[in-house]
Amino acid sequence: MTKVLIIDSAATGEKSVSRKLTNEFAEQLRSREPRAEIIRRDVGRAPIPHLTEETVGAIRGAPGDTEAAAAALALSDALIAELKGADLIVIGAPMYNFGMPSTLKAWFDHVLRAGITFRYTSGGPEGLVRGKRAIVIEARAGLYSEGPAAGMDHQEPHIRTLLGFMGVTDVTYVRAEKLAFGPEAATAAITEAIEQLDGIAQTELALAA
Ligand SMILES: Cc1cc2nc3c(=O)[nH]c(=O)nc-3n(C[C@H](O)[C@H](O)[C@H](O)COP(=O)(O)O)c2cc1C
Repeated sequence: MTKVLIIDSAATGEKSVSRKLTNEFAEQLRSREPRAEIIRRDVGRAPIPHLTEETVGAIRGAPGDTEAAAAALALSDALIAELKGADLIVIGAPMYNFGMPSTLKAWFDHVLRAGITFRYTSGGPEGLVRGKRAIVIEARAGLYSEGPAAGMDHQEPHIRTLLGFMGVTDVTYVRAEKLAFGPEAATAAITEAIEQLDGIAQTELALAA
């Protein structure tokens, strides 16, 4: 049975477009396949702490002996176990100031661990999180997938690099864009994203069957 990890990162609570879309996808999966195991990790509502002088060593192989270091290591281990245990990873990723939310970046800071999720070899770095599918659901006020602002998109390329560094390369990007281009454009963007997610839910379950 497909195990799905859904990560939300919006700071905007129930108003969040990306959370609406991750919820929609979870509902689509549940209604089609009630036995699908869905794990939710909401780093928007329960933010992942930033790394500090006290905790960074824990993530970089030198744990130290403080309570804070032990807590950071335990959190990192738990997040990596969730990641490695999933067949499908869904990330709800709002665009905040042209990038991902800082708490989603903090999640990546806790799961990118040398020797565990990637390693350095004589041929260069190698991802160790293999055989996964991922869906990144992006919500943005502007238009970045084409046009004059495309070069200001530091969200999707960064997420692509981080996932790819861990070996997660089979990724579909679902973009709800132009959310600030008026109510009609916003409704159209959300409807289109839901339709795309519906198609993906069908495909994923067909592949898992
Ligand atoms: C703090 C903050 C910064 C934002 N920065 C950008 C931005 O740089 N570019 C953009 O197109 N939209 C920006 N937006 C708009 C969001 O991308 C948009 O509201 C989207 O719906 C956010 O996803 P969410 O609804 O899941 O929170 C920003 C919103 C917030 C709250």
